Amino acid sequence: MQEYNNDYYLAQILQQNMRYTEETGKTKKCLTHTFGCQMNERDSEILFGFLTQMGYERTDREEEADLILLNTCCIREKAESKVLSELGELRRYKQKNPDMIIGVCGCMVQQEGMVNTIRSSAPHVNLIFGTHNLHELPRFIYEIYTTGEKQIEVLEKETGVHEGLPRHREYPFKALVNIIYGCNNFCTYCIVPYVRGRERSRKMEDILQEVRGLVADGVVEITLLGQNVNSYGLDLKDGTNFAGLLQELDKIEGLRRIRYMTSHPKDVNEELVKVIAASQKVCHHFHLPIQSGSTAILKQMNRKYSKEDYLAMVELIRRYVPDATITTDIIVGFPGETEEDFQETLDVVRTVKFDNAFSFIYSKRTGTPAAKFADAVTLEEKKERLQRLNDTLAEISKGINDHLQDTDMEVLVEGPSKNNPEMLCGRTDGNKTVIFLGSPDLIGQIVKVHITEAQTWILKGTLL
Ligand code: 5AD
Ligand code: SF4
Repeated sequence: MQEYNNDYYLAQILQQNMRYTEETGKTKKCLTHTFGCQMNERDSEILFGFLTQMGYERTDREEEADLILLNTCCIREKAESKVLSELGELRRYKQKNPDMIIGVCGCMVQQEGMVNTIRSSAPHVNLIFGTHNLHELPRFIYEIYTTGEKQIEVLEKETGVHEGLPRHREYPFKALVNIIYGCNNFCTYCIVPYVRGRERSRKMEDILQEVRGLVADGVVEITLLGQNVNSYGLDLKDGTNFAGLLQELDKIEGLRRIRYMTSHPKDVNEELVKVIAASQKVCHHFHLPIQSGSTAILKQMNRKYSKEDYLAMVELIRRYVPDATITTDIIVGFPGETEEDFQETLDVVRTVKFDNAFSFIYSKRTGTPAAKFADAVTLEEKKERLQRLNDTLAEISKGINDHLQDTDMEVLVEGPSKNNPEMLCGRTDGNKTVIFLGSPDLIGQIVKVHITEAQTWILKGTLL
């Protein structure tokens, strides 16, 4: 079912862009700026895929771009203010180049009232679309080309699963693969279910076919994406589930590593852990957002597990996968969080000994239930809790990493190290970052590295 005709729009735009090149000797250039999570990164691959088909070339310089697209995030207030301030800055480029297309898409615009906020605070924006009609980018650009009018279209509800969209991948050796869209969990602090809609799984065969194609293309590591990958398949009502998908993916020859993001602790069960333990390819890395260690706060968050449930799950993982690395997300300063509640979080952190964690100060999101909860904790106190939490996490991570010193680890080489481009940077099966000296020819390969130095968040080593 395809009620839009992208091929037509794409061909028309390409023709116009080619004519532009003939007339001016220049190629149309585009810039996409992605905020937020890997879901957005994956969506931007589609957007950039479309733009490439339209004949646009990529640029990193705003001043030479003919089209700028911001793919936005609204998980916390900070993400949103970054977008709004960037939009303000883009005004001067549009003044210099009035034909420039400035677009805003993604999660932020799905929020009630946001389209109006953008329209009034950034009138130079001439394209706004949401997460549910990303696949219609060609039509929007075509309309702007032919009518010159602003295109503003945000759909309130999800529109199913769209297969066969183009993509432009950043890395030849690793790839993001959507398996389920949306979220049904409604954690009380979280905006995601309101901006990404209800859970929709892709058909298992479509996923397998995509991964087989990626592997044939040279991909050795895939990351399966979903707001809650554990719900995968349940809406298909044909017996498909996440464990079954992992088993099928495991059989794909040439694929070396399977990762996934994100797992909900309430849905981790023995069957899944056993499948992961028995798998040749699923990485022994469990990212399980705990959010808080206080059962009372977890209840307020609507997380559907207690502190004890979480600890029991960690025990289950350690029993079947003794070398598992476990990472998490933690929110401090949720409305009503007392010092005692926070101490419960620190207690879980010390008991589990997380390898790493993303820690956040609670950010009030309008439209979520928690936005109406009484919040007596001051920002100062929240910042202080975050600092104490981060100090605890760092100390634990250093202790774990110290134990890895003088061991040999398999590392997928990802590219030059950001801080030291002379060195290579890669990741272990457990998702630890390793820095070492080696030839750039190794990028994309899995190599063995002897760990010589353990730091708090990274390991240094020598190539074997
Ligand atoms: N405030 C702070 N952190 C949040 N997260 C989600 N919503 C909020 C919020 N309102 C965090 C959670 C989630 C991660 C992706 O972002 O920890 O796991
Ligand atoms: Fe947000 Fe909870 Fe859904 Fe994760 S599971 S996206 S935290 S509502």
